[in-house]
Amino acid sequence: MQPREIRPKIYSVGAVDWDRRLFDALIPLPDGTSYNAYLIQGSQKTALIDTVDPTMEQVLLNNLEQLGVANIDYVITNHAEQDHSGTLPTVLERYPKAKVICTPKCRDMLVNLNLAPAEKITAVADKETLSLGDKTLEFIHAPWVHWPETMLTYLQEERILFPCDFFGSHLATTDLYVSDEGEVHEAAKRYYAEIMMPFSAQIQKNLEKIKDYAIDIIAPSHGPMYRRPEFIIKLYHSWASDAPKNIVVLPYTSMHGSTRQMVEYLVRALVQRGVTVKQFDLAATDLGKLAMALVDAATVVIGTPTVLGGPHPNAAYATLLANALRPKVKFISIIGSYGWGGKTVEQLAGMIPNLKVEIIPPVISKGFPKEDDFRALDNLASTIAQKHQENNFT
Ligand code: FEO
Repeated sequence: MQPREIRPKIYSVGAVDWDRRLFDALIPLPDGTSYNAYLIQGSQKTALIDTVDPTMEQVLLNNLEQLGVANIDYVITNHAEQDHSGTLPTVLERYPKAKVICTPKCRDMLVNLNLAPAEKITAVADKETLSLGDKTLEFIHAPWVHWPETMLTYLQEERILFPCDFFGSHLATTDLYVSDEGEVHEAAKRYYAEIMMPFSAQIQKNLEKIKDYAIDIIAPSHGPMYRRPEFIIKLYHSWASDAPKNIVVLPYTSMHGSTRQMVEYLVRALVQRGVTVKQFDLAATDLGKLAMALVDAATVVIGTPTVLGGPHPNAAYATLLANALRPKVKFISIIGSYGWGGKTVEQLAGMIPNLKVEIIPPVISKGFPKEDDFRALDNLASTIAQKHQENNFT
């Protein structure tokens, strides 16, 4: 993507990655992504905010060249992760007078993760400012969005917040600004679920920290910019809140149809009791969709057959993922089937130490479910519905 002017002497100079389909060898990117970087030319100094993923290094360098940038005084590094700082060493070679500005913790990480030269890095304190002449940058320490070293940069005169990953969305687009809030809602929620959700308590603190800043534009480092910042800030308040909704997420896998039959029965029983259900066949589902559903769910029910004495590996993987993502879920149960024995329930229960949940007694059928099993599933649905009502989950 070519450089584009946001305001006079302020440019978007990053790259759109239409083809990337996986992040961290883990996270699906069905809509690609972007690595946004921003150039700010003050009356005396020039700053580059973040760089790009190393695979897109040439796009950034070409954009700077196209704008005739002969000198950069500061590279503001909000986050050490490679998709924003991997090109830092190359930028410093091309612009040898540039100093890197970051948090104290980020300094060490840049040296170790990106082999950046330590002598060029200056750490800044929380709320410290840096004058570019007629423009002033303020650095807001915002740890754990989503690494420990992260900060936000606020351009005071133009009221633009550059939050790097915070408020971002994995969305490849030529739109500089959000044009379709529904599309961005989906992409930003996926991003929140996969990257930010484990840090919801810190996210709440950082939302509180920026609440008194006047913000006209949020310019994240993934996805389009927000001309209506309240749109994404309100969503983040909702996603990071402690209050789940009247939703059961039901990830399952079935080998010979027994567990599937139990899943289908339980879904009907829950719906009859006024509970919304999101059902995911783990053999086929996009795990990002499952992560998104976990953002709001009050209860998770895992459906699995017993195989080789324990849960099916698909169910184990989904359980480990839920444990790692630390959703606000309050209740968990397990349904499924077995042929001749095993420790499915014990093994799954041992995989969720991060989740502060009440475990509702599982329903495990020997082979195909029978009348007693269906009654037990009715009871499970009633218990879940009652617990949601008692806690006012709506
Ligand atoms: Fe977009 Fe945490 O890097």
